Amino acid sequence: MERRKFLMLFGVGTLASYLPVAIAACSSLFKVDEAFGQSDGAVVAGTIADLDNAGQLYQDNTSIGSIAVIRSPDNPQKLLAVDPTCTHQGCTVDWDGDKKQFKCPCHGAKFSANGKVLKGPASSPLGTYKAKIQGNSVIVSKN
Ligand code: FES
Repeated sequence: MERRKFLMLFGVGTLASYLPVAIAACSSLFKVDEAFGQSDGAVVAGTIADLDNAGQLYQDNTSIGSIAVIRSPDNPQKLLAVDPTCTHQGCTVDWDGDKKQFKCPCHGAKFSANGKVLKGPASSPLGTYKAKIQGNSVIVSKN
């Protein structure tokens, strides 16, 4: 085999061997974009499996804000999504699945599953979002 032909075949072979890697890299980047934003301003907060395993989904600093998603204690088929930023002084509230309320670790405020104040010092409800299931994903958008 001529040297020139060998080098050309070697070059094509090398390019062909890297092509799947390049495609995989691009597709994984595409999935990251899909995971954090959708064209209509909604965001994917996670999967149903993640929600059911952890009992909640938290996403900080999405394009629509920080998000906490839970299943409604009254109707588990329904999802509730709130901004977990406490309205007192901005700490992040935690979901207590046993007591079915959000609790603020800083000064003890408590909020219902849909964000209403149950106990001060916070006086304003948590912000809320719309949440829905689409396929295996939990989609959250502004109200
Ligand atoms: S920041 Fe939540 S109760 Fe003070």
